[in-house]
Amino acid sequence: ATGSLTDPRDRPLQDLRLSVTDRCNFRCVYCMPKEVFGKDFAFMERDELMTFEEMTRLARISIAHGVEKIRLTGGEPLLRRGLEELVGMLAALRTPDGREIDIALTTNGSALATKAQALKDAGLKRVTVSLDSLDDATFRAMNDVKFPVAKVLDGIDAAHEVGLGPIKINMVMQRGKNDQDIVAMARHFKGTPYILRFIEFMDVGTSNGWEMGAVVPSAEVVARIHAELPLEEVAPNYDGETSRRWRYRDGGGEIGVISSVTQSFCHSCSRARVSTDGKLFTCLFATDGHDLRALMRNGCTDEQLSTVMAHIWRERTDRYSELRSSKTRELRASGKKKIEMSYIGG
Ligand code: GTP
Ligand code: 5AD
Ligand code: SF4
Ligand code: SF4
Repeated sequence: ATGSLTDPRDRPLQDLRLSVTDRCNFRCVYCMPKEVFGKDFAFMERDELMTFEEMTRLARISIAHGVEKIRLTGGEPLLRRGLEELVGMLAALRTPDGREIDIALTTNGSALATKAQALKDAGLKRVTVSLDSLDDATFRAMNDVKFPVAKVLDGIDAAHEVGLGPIKINMVMQRGKNDQDIVAMARHFKGTPYILRFIEFMDVGTSNGWEMGAVVPSAEVVARIHAELPLEEVAPNYDGETSRRWRYRDGGGEIGVISSVTQSFCHSCSRARVSTDGKLFTCLFATDGHDLRALMRNGCTDEQLSTVMAHIWRERTDRYSELRSSKTRELRASGKKKIEMSYIGG
């Protein structure tokens, strides 16, 4: 029931993800390892970043093409100064038939306690908070800046109190690092308003040292939880949902598993991503993007931008997760580098 823009596999453009900064105050080992993202790492300069006006312009054009959901990501989006202002600008947009846009934010939660109210007031609908362990030592080791888990939990509660929701909690699992906490996480969030989702560690970018052995398959997660807290599968909320839903048989709510590695969901991928410097990517595992910022700064019209975006989507054939092993070999041979998660956003 959305716009008519589809790619050759009949996948509609529905979801726009805007990365608002490539910086982060965490150094999660699976995302921005310190060895790579150290003191000398060259983050983007201010004039390279898309302005809020440029982002809003791209959002408006995407909405005309069928986008109904916008997610702000990063890096850590709350590090972008004045983010509430962008939220306000996006919240004023409407679908062609006059409906509001679903505006969500993916955050590490470190600044939520102070920013939740302003974000809500500006028109943000919901937040997804990354949280990889409840055990303070494990959490500090995974974010690698010794950030305490209690502060993130406070942030989550603050977001709930101001009415941002439903709130989802994303746990990326790495075998040997935090997989011992899977059942404890499930227990902690069971019966709360928060929806916990387990994410398979992915081979995004080139710096996180990914190996298959470190992936905890979703089937194993479900089995481990089910053995203690019985589960049953639930139908997806919408077509193309990344997460498979399971609910507790005793009515304690639901969890989700995101299985990009063991069960790809490319067949229904309706997501476009724009990097902090305004490049459009049609896959998380891409090597090259389309420079929309250059077009905008060279004075192109809305109509021209719209045509370019439509053309890119109509030509899109991405399905990295379906082809993972052959693609990995191909990329290695070509010497091309996949983009990093902190650059393109989750
Ligand atoms: P909802 O709007 O709440 O349904 O969000 P979502 O399921 O789109 O979720 P979210 O942005 O929280 O994504 C969760 C995680 O799934 C991301 O952080 C990524 O790790 C992974 N993910 C999301 N989209 C894609 C995708 O298109 N491809 C792959 N391979 N992984 C994805
Ligand atoms: N594999 C899976 N998920 C990842 N994220 C970041 N890097 C990876 C990876 N290599 C997740 C974060 C956050 C979202 C932005 O993406 O934990 O939930
Ligand atoms: Fe920062 Fe999120 Fe990446 Fe962790 S996963 S380093 S919090 S952007
Ligand atoms: Fe979409 Fe690429 Fe992820 Fe497949 S691998 S679901 S095409 S972003």
